[in-house]
Amino acid sequence: MSFLSLNQVSHQYFSEKNYTKALDNINMTVEEGSFISILGPSGCGKTTLLSIVSGLIRPTRGEVRLAGKQVQDTEAEIGYMLQQDYLFPWKTILENVLIGPKIQQKQTSAIKPKAIEFLKEIGLENVINAYPAELSGGMRQRAALIRTLITDPMLLLLDEPFSALDYQTKLKLEDLVSNLLKEFHKTSVLVTHDIGEAIAMSDQIYLMKANPGKIAEVFEVPIELRNLSPFQARKHLKYQLLFDRIWEELNTLESKHHV
Ligand SMILES: Nc1ncnc2c1ncn2[C@@H]1O[C@H](COP(=O)(O)OP(=O)(O)O)[C@@H](O)[C@H]1O
Ligand SMILES: [Mg+2]
Repeated sequence: MSFLSLNQVSHQYFSEKNYTKALDNINMTVEEGSFISILGPSGCGKTTLLSIVSGLIRPTRGEVRLAGKQVQDTEAEIGYMLQQDYLFPWKTILENVLIGPKIQQKQTSAIKPKAIEFLKEIGLENVINAYPAELSGGMRQRAALIRTLITDPMLLLLDEPFSALDYQTKLKLEDLVSNLLKEFHKTSVLVTHDIGEAIAMSDQIYLMKANPGKIAEVFEVPIELRNLSPFQARKHLKYQLLFDRIWEELNTLESKHHV
């Protein structure tokens, strides 16, 4: 049995006059400890898919199972990180990180030292008592990641967390995040429209197409790349080869769509 599975998941949004078929018959299996990317153009249903996996919205059809349970019954065990950091501006970085444990009433005496240790590990030791406005975008996203990890979620969902950052910051953060998630053996699903990021970070890539949102193809990332940091992976020949395959597939999907 897989750690996470989506079985024939479809979703439609209804409004008074019409409806949008956002997802059509999505099937996925994710092994524990692996890193999966969902890659596709804007509007293909990526965020809808993550919201369904997180249990925030219930699919029109199908089911999501996490560690043998229906996902609706697993609430607090899923960490969700978005493109925008949503840190509270009136709270310090440390206070922001401690919000999750506080809400979940898991605030033990060990949690504060753990938060400080995590913040150090991700290079934020000098801004623990600073306010979000005093930090760069990359630093805020790092704080948001720690806030997500501190509750030790069994599954981490990342919705384009690097897409608002400049290129250099993004490359650095990819390495940091990848290291941290490997160290803690986290199972993660990343949504992105960046082919290179998907290849550099993942074990498997689910390529989606739009109208309706469907999985067009699943790519296995070669083991040589998985063993490298995202930055090093980008320089490997096999990275380029996989990039070209995905690029071609995306172009084929687009041209089919326009006829
Ligand atoms: N709350 C909503 N109500 C109605 N339609 C929505 C809603 N959210 C998304 N959609 C539509 O569903 C489709 C998929 O959207 P979304 O999941 O946000 O895609 P992506 O994250 O890949 O850009 C789009 O056509 C979008 O307009
Ligand atoms: Mg989206």
